[in-house]
Amino acid sequence: MSARIIDGKAIAASIRQEMTSEVAQLKENGIVPGLAVVIIGDDPASKVYVGQKEKGCAQIGIYSEKHDLPGDTSEEELLDLIDKLNKDDKINGILVQLPLPKQIDEKRVLYAIDSAKDVDGFHPENIGKMVIGEDTFLPCTPHGIMVLLEHSGIDLKGKEAVVVGRSNIVGKPILLMLLSKSATVTICHSKTVDLNFHTARADVLIAAVGIPEMIKGDMVKDGVVVIDVGVNRLESGKLVGDVEFESVSKKASAITPVPGGVGPMTITMLLKNTIKAAKKQSLTK
Ligand code: GUN
Repeated sequence: MSARIIDGKAIAASIRQEMTSEVAQLKENGIVPGLAVVIIGDDPASKVYVGQKEKGCAQIGIYSEKHDLPGDTSEEELLDLIDKLNKDDKINGILVQLPLPKQIDEKRVLYAIDSAKDVDGFHPENIGKMVIGEDTFLPCTPHGIMVLLEHSGIDLKGKEAVVVGRSNIVGKPILLMLLSKSATVTICHSKTVDLNFHTARADVLIAAVGIPEMIKGDMVKDGVVVIDVGVNRLESGKLVGDVEFESVSKKASAITPVPGGVGPMTITMLLKNTIKAAKKQSLTK
């Protein structure tokens, strides 16, 4: 079997096109969606991600501003900035790029963002709403994965979905989203005793561990749908996922490439959340 490629770039482009019209229409009604992106320090990967977020905003007409702070910024300084952004009417969404330098407590920062402007979906109030299935801001990467699966016509009802990785950003939220579509979900992690036993049962496999090409062809069954969340730079400079594409794509029925799979969808969902925030806030003004 040779896998169908799930083209995240193309799916993201078509969604962004729809959002461009939506933003234009909002502007006609005096609503300009605005996003503030905060980056601290000079982590090269974070800089690339933040650049892509700004570009995504510009592409579809969302106002954006970047707050680029030095690596030795104190927690108080960052909390002051968040307080200002919480009160700023031009700003509907606030994103603080992670990871943060070690002198800053990530939890305090994420909790300080107004939950109505939490376009990352990381605030505990929004996480709680997601758990009980209330309308809220969904975290962008797992939400992007769900949209990819939906656009690819993959029905999750009753399927064995196996997630490798238990992070707050991907593994835990995708568990809930898959469950809400009636999949039977297993989460594997670094202490899982027999990883192959689980991956070999998967109808849908989500790899989100951050270990280059860890999932090999002999770990999956024929016909599996594979979503690769990993973005790993090898010493050679080559960008690879958590899945060994060469061997796994020979057995899978559908697979996301790296790059061009999950990545473009993550930013698209951030833009979607920013528009959602702007619309909601316009109702309460
Ligand atoms: N760092 C890696 N992924 C993310 C994300 O989705 N949001 C934020 N804020 N930081 C990240």
